[in-house]
Amino acid sequence: MKKLEVFGATKLKGEIRISGSKNASLPILAATLLSDKKINLSNLPRVKDIETMLLLLKSLGSVVKNDKKVTIIKNYKQSKTYASYSLVKTMRAGILVLGPLIAKFGKAKVSLPGGCAIGTRPVDIHLKALSKLGVKYKIIQGYVHAKAPKGLIGANIRFSKISVGATENLIIAACFAKGDTILSNCAIEPEIKDLTNFLNQMGCNVKWISKRTVKIKGVNKVKDLNYTVMPDRIEAGTYLIAAALTEGKLKITGIDPKIISTEISIIKKVGANIIQKKNEIKIQGNKKIKSINIKTSPYPGFPTDLQAQMMVLLCKAGKKSYIREEIFENRFMHVAELNRMGAKISISGNRATIEGNIKFEAAELMATDLRASVSLILAALASKGKSTINRIYHLDRGYEDIEKKLKKVGAKIKRISQ
Ligand code: EPZ
Repeated sequence: MKKLEVFGATKLKGEIRISGSKNASLPILAATLLSDKKINLSNLPRVKDIETMLLLLKSLGSVVKNDKKVTIIKNYKQSKTYASYSLVKTMRAGILVLGPLIAKFGKAKVSLPGGCAIGTRPVDIHLKALSKLGVKYKIIQGYVHAKAPKGLIGANIRFSKISVGATENLIIAACFAKGDTILSNCAIEPEIKDLTNFLNQMGCNVKWISKRTVKIKGVNKVKDLNYTVMPDRIEAGTYLIAAALTEGKLKITGIDPKIISTEISIIKKVGANIIQKKNEIKIQGNKKIKSINIKTSPYPGFPTDLQAQMMVLLCKAGKKSYIREEIFENRFMHVAELNRMGAKISISGNRATIEGNIKFEAAELMATDLRASVSLILAALASKGKSTINRIYHLDRGYEDIEKKLKKVGAKIKRISQ
């Protein structure tokens, strides 16, 4: 079992370059199933979820060359339309192959993602919307058996709830539907805009016609494409919070500050000094951290993927703070572990009350999900002594070279396998 050992407390100082976005790469990789041409993707992060998605594409007949950039060529002779539980269960984004498979081949058998630490992760919104495009489906033994014998027919669809994955699945599927599709009440995360840029450059026809409404004109052929995936805004937000927490001084490069303006304004509100330039953010943490009340919400609100990290920072605030988790039903798994490090966080329903003026103590810890695991590293960096974090396979799903990046800015952190 791999573990991380972190010796705190450390003030982080130096420069960190942001990697490609996991949550932009996953739907873009799924969308390559529409293409029988050559696609070169650059800036994919070297993380477990991307490896899993590439394995899933290979299992569906894509030929993948994975060196500096990733080249994908669909070989339709041996195309399959079966996405197995063994691959989808570890990476819920596997459900994103459903839309492209039905759009291209008229049928698909895709494992339901199953739940994870942060929630049940249902896909009812995906399925209901796909049926409006003419998909017939049955759930049999944990798999979605879907077919569209006459192909997909464009339709006007309004999502009952804002869903990142459902928006992505439907945009991809509608690209190969007959006629026009209008999707409203869409999620508008920057990763979704990256997906629509990718699709348009591949030869599809996707236009945002208002804030949360997108119009897709069906096409039936695409072209070769070289595409560079956007940087990871959650990784950037995580390192900004790390600098604010450790009273550090970091230069974050490789990301346009505009896409994380909400996060930057909140981190400024709690007291850090931030200077933004075209492709870099300079942050200087402050001794005094102010309390703040936040709630997570769909973009452009405060992202649920930074909730755990923000909670650690607010433990150091001068007064009590509150965080309301509005997106997932069980995304407070990090609280118990943080309380073992001396935090005083109480939960009632979807609201966490965070006492301030906490002095974290190093401890032996257990990671439970991707963002919870990085919040434990942050707390360990702010604690005196040695913390050990177990089950760091959660971390490896979404943070590229995290020890290397942190070591470069002064953290005493090492991976041990026992
Ligand atoms: C995406 O998950 C991200 N994953 C998540 O990041 C992120 O936390 C989430 O969006 C919200 O921003 C990827 O992009 C790969 P949703 P997704 O559909 O698409 C409910 C990380 O840490 N819902 O917007 O699964 C759902 O249960 C991960 O990188 C339904 O009820 O999120 C949740 O409560 C974690 N029915 C809410 O909607 C559905 O059919 C938002 O889910 C779909 C979703």
